[in-house]
Amino acid sequence: MAAESTRKVDMDKIVSLCKRRGFVFPSSEIYGGLGSTWDYGPLGVELKRNVRDAWWRAVVQERDDMVGIDAAILMHPSVWVASGHVAGFADPLVDCKQCRQRWRADQLAGGRCPACGGELTEARMFNLMFKTFMGPVENEASVVYLRPETAQGIFVNFTNVLTTTRKKLPFGVAQIGKSFRNEITPGNFIFRTREFEQMEIEYFVKPGADEEWHRRWLDYRFEWYVNLGMKRENLRLREHGPEELAHYAKCCFDIEYKFPGSLDWSEIEGIANRGDFDLTQHARYSGQDLSYYDEESGQRFVPYVIEPSAGVDRSLLAFLIDAYDEEADKEGIRVVLRLHPALAPIKVAVLPLSKKESLAAVARDIHRELRKYWMTQYDETQSIGRRYRRQDEIGTPFCVTVDFETLNDQAVTIRERDGMTQVRVPIADLVAELRTRIGF
Ligand code: GAP
Repeated sequence: MAAESTRKVDMDKIVSLCKRRGFVFPSSEIYGGLGSTWDYGPLGVELKRNVRDAWWRAVVQERDDMVGIDAAILMHPSVWVASGHVAGFADPLVDCKQCRQRWRADQLAGGRCPACGGELTEARMFNLMFKTFMGPVENEASVVYLRPETAQGIFVNFTNVLTTTRKKLPFGVAQIGKSFRNEITPGNFIFRTREFEQMEIEYFVKPGADEEWHRRWLDYRFEWYVNLGMKRENLRLREHGPEELAHYAKCCFDIEYKFPGSLDWSEIEGIANRGDFDLTQHARYSGQDLSYYDEESGQRFVPYVIEPSAGVDRSLLAFLIDAYDEEADKEGIRVVLRLHPALAPIKVAVLPLSKKESLAAVARDIHRELRKYWMTQYDETQSIGRRYRRQDEIGTPFCVTVDFETLNDQAVTIRERDGMTQVRVPIADLVAELRTRIGF
C-alpha cells in the first residue's frame, strides 16, 4: 500500500494545477467567487466528458441489458414526497452561539464548536433540497425542487422504458446529469459541492436475484476504476453499518478512494440494494401500476433495484489525484499526469522542432489530419523540452515531433509521456500507430 508519506500529491497541488492549466476555476471569480461552486475550464471540460463517455461506454454501449435516459431536473413535487426526500432528506444542523459558524451535528466529535470552542445550539433538521417556484406566482402551490439525485427520473419512467424497449428482467437504465444539494458543509474542492453531476444506474431484477446482482455490480464498478488506471491499492469497498443506511436501502457498499489529507478514505460511488422501495412508493402515490409481468413464471411483482451511483466530479477528482506524479531530473521537477489515454483531455500534441515554415507547414498538415480523430494541440512556441513538460503536466499521452529529418524521410517521432521513449514512424502510418496506442 502506498504510504501517505511517499505520495507526492496533496489537494493544494491539484487545486493549483487545475487553476493554472485550465481544468477547474472558482465560479464567478471576478465577483469574489460563490462558495464552493466551480467551473470547468477548457481542459476540465474534456476530462469530464471523457469520464462520462468511459462510463456510458462501459454501462450502456457494451452491454445488452442497459439503456439510457435523460430526464428533466425539475420534476413533479409529489416525486419527492413519494421518494421520502421531503420528509427525510435532511442533516442535523447546529450553530455556534459565539462565532456563528454552522456545523453538521453528526460530523462533530465533541459538543463544542471546532472553530472557537463556543457553545452550540440544539440540533435542528435541515432539508438539503433546493426549492424554487414554477411559474409567476411564488406560493406553496408553485414550489418545485431541483433534484437531489437523478435516480427518481429513472423510477418514474420505469413503465415508459419497459414498453418502448420491451426489455425483460434483469435490465437497467443509466442516466448522467446534474443534481443539487444544499450541503451544510461543502468543501475539499470539487469533492462536495452544492451543484454536482451524477452517473446513476437503476438495475431492475427479480426479488431474490438482488443479492447476486448486487455482488456483480460491486465487482463490475470497482474494476471500471482499475481499468481506467486507478491504483487498486487506493480503492476499497466498505459496507454501510445499519445506522448509516439511507431510508430506502436494504444494504449498501461504498467504493472509497484514498484521498490525500483529511478526506482520507472517502466515497466516490455508492452501490445500494434499494429493494422495491421506490417503485412501490411511486405506485402508491401516483396510483399507477408499476409492477412487472414475468412471462416465464406467469407472475406479476414489483422488481427489486440495484443502484450503482457515482459522482462525475468526485471520480474526476480521484482520477486526477491518482494520476498526479512528480519526477526529479536534471532540469528540475517533471510534473506528469499519468491519465489513462481514454481520459486524457488531449490525446496528441503536434510539435514542430522549429518555427521554420518548411517544418511548420508539414506539422500543420499532420495536425489537420490527426484532429479528425482525437482532441489534439498544436504548439510551436518555446523549446521542445518546455513543450514536452507542458503536455506532461496536462496528461497528454503522446507528442508527435516534426524535425528536419522529416523533410527527407517522411517520418516523425512519437514521444510517449510515461517512459519518455521515442519511436520513429512514417507519416503514412501515424494514424494507425496512434490508434493502437490510444486504444480507439
Ligand atoms: N441515488 C443515490 C445517491 O444519490 P449518494 O451516495 O447520496 O447516493 C451518489 O450519491 C454519489 O454522488 C456519491 O458517491 C458522490 O460521488 C456523488 N455526490 C453526492 N453528493 C455530492 C456532493 N455534494 N458533491 C459532489 N458529489 C456528490
